[in-house]
Amino acid sequence: QRTPLIAPSILAADFSRLGEQVVAVPDADWIHVDIMDGHFVPNLSFGADITAAVNRVTDKELDVHLMIENPEKWVDNYIDAGADCIVFHVEATEGHVELAKYIRSKGVRAGFSLRPGTPIEDYLDDLEHFDEVIVMSVEPGFGGQSFMPEQLEKVRTLRKVIDERGLNTVIEIDGGISSKTIKQAADAGVDAFVAGSAVYGAEDPNKAIQELRALAH
Ligand code: DX5
Ligand code: ZN
Repeated sequence: QRTPLIAPSILAADFSRLGEQVVAVPDADWIHVDIMDGHFVPNLSFGADITAAVNRVTDKELDVHLMIENPEKWVDNYIDAGADCIVFHVEATEGHVELAKYIRSKGVRAGFSLRPGTPIEDYLDDLEHFDEVIVMSVEPGFGGQSFMPEQLEKVRTLRKVIDERGLNTVIEIDGGISSKTIKQAADAGVDAFVAGSAVYGAEDPNKAIQELRALAH
């Protein structure tokens, strides 16, 4: 059995005390950093300077999710900001393998993500170039949306291919993960779970992480 990784999304944190909110989740495995540009997705979040500020207050790995157009133009900023893994959207680039190779050449893990409507099949042959895949279980752009269970079919496909080929690619699920949905995602083969509102909307964010992890086992 895999050890579930929990990645709280600071998109759901109180930005007026972001540093404290990052420090308030000592049991997090990674900190999930959602970058939205108002173009690839309709919403706007924050950029590389805030990412660097988060990196200054924690030793935890930053899992940076780029929901932006032209990711190749911006990855260096996030590498410099201290990202440990950079995940871009396949819909936003023509050269997903080249971009992954570039990110890895800088000593940073590379990942791709797909919108709910994008099939996984076209990308299965390229998995060896990626350390992580984020399966979106909501339409990217906003926290607090409802989990789309049909997206778990992509997780099952990925789990099978990754295991058959003996790859180390981590399967992460993002969107609507809560105490009600995490178990079905874990059963489908997810390794890492993003949780925004389920963590930062809780009275005790760190306790929420412990509870989620227990349910994912
Ligand atoms: C959505 C973001 C998610 C979001 C998840 O576009 O990629 O990471 O913060 O938020 P919850 O867990 O509230 O669905
Ligand atoms: Zn995300």
